[in-house]
Amino acid sequence: MINVDQAIRLRRSVRGFLPREVPEATLHEVFALAQYAPSNCNVQPWTPHVVSGEKLKRLREALVGAGMRDDPIKPDWPADGKFTGIYRERQVGAAQALYGAMGVARSDAVGRKLAYIRNHAFFDAPHAVLIFMPEPFDTREAADIGMYAQTLMLVLTSRGIASCAQGALGLFPDIVREQLDVPGNYKLLFGISFGYEDHDVRANAARVGRAKIDDVVPFHR
Ligand SMILES: Cc1cc2nc3c(=O)[nH]c(=O)nc-3n(C[C@H](O)[C@H](O)[C@H](O)COP(=O)(O)O)c2cc1C
Repeated sequence: MINVDQAIRLRRSVRGFLPREVPEATLHEVFALAQYAPSNCNVQPWTPHVVSGEKLKRLREALVGAGMRDDPIKPDWPADGKFTGIYRERQVGAAQALYGAMGVARSDAVGRKLAYIRNHAFFDAPHAVLIFMPEPFDTREAADIGMYAQTLMLVLTSRGIASCAQGALGLFPDIVREQLDVPGNYKLLFGISFGYEDHDVRANAARVGRAKIDDVVPFHR
């Protein structure tokens, strides 16, 4: 078993998976461990729906269909671009790393759309978890869910299971709610595709860096 430092360094967003499923016992172990994530007042506001097999196939078809038809998105939270300055630079850097690895040129609108639609296909992953939050929870509880998601992804990493968090999976929440029979008062934050990495997928060669702590972390005393 790898240690926490190794799991943090090893985890990265993987965007191409093998069809091989994660054993049922491992799935349960991973989600049981992720429950230890901290939350404000221990309310544990996450409601993760784990989807595999036939259900995932149907959800994939519905989401890919919506994306290919350019159906209007209707996310539970605004998804419009608000990145400016350094944040915009980082966003562009991440996109360049990904599309560069995939060999998709900036001017190739069709290639970009198809690359984006891979999100809706869960990057061919055999499993996905769609993470909902009940009303009236908002920003504070969303922070708890971020902690939950990273805990989950590190546990997956420690077992050799790759993942990719995807805001893109939150753009058509009505489709997801309908297919998974989730009540309307549960709002969809994002999803995480997971499974075993397909090393032959070009997107998986993408690497992104991080800002230096001197530029990010003021230490006060
Ligand atoms: C909440 C959240 C939403 C994300 N949404 C997407 C997404 O929709 N599609 C995607 O390909 N990557 C998505 N990512 C992955 C980020 O692009 C990735 O974490 C970032 O570029 C850092 O790279 P790394 O995860 O490989 O370290 C998301 C990550 C997070 C935490």
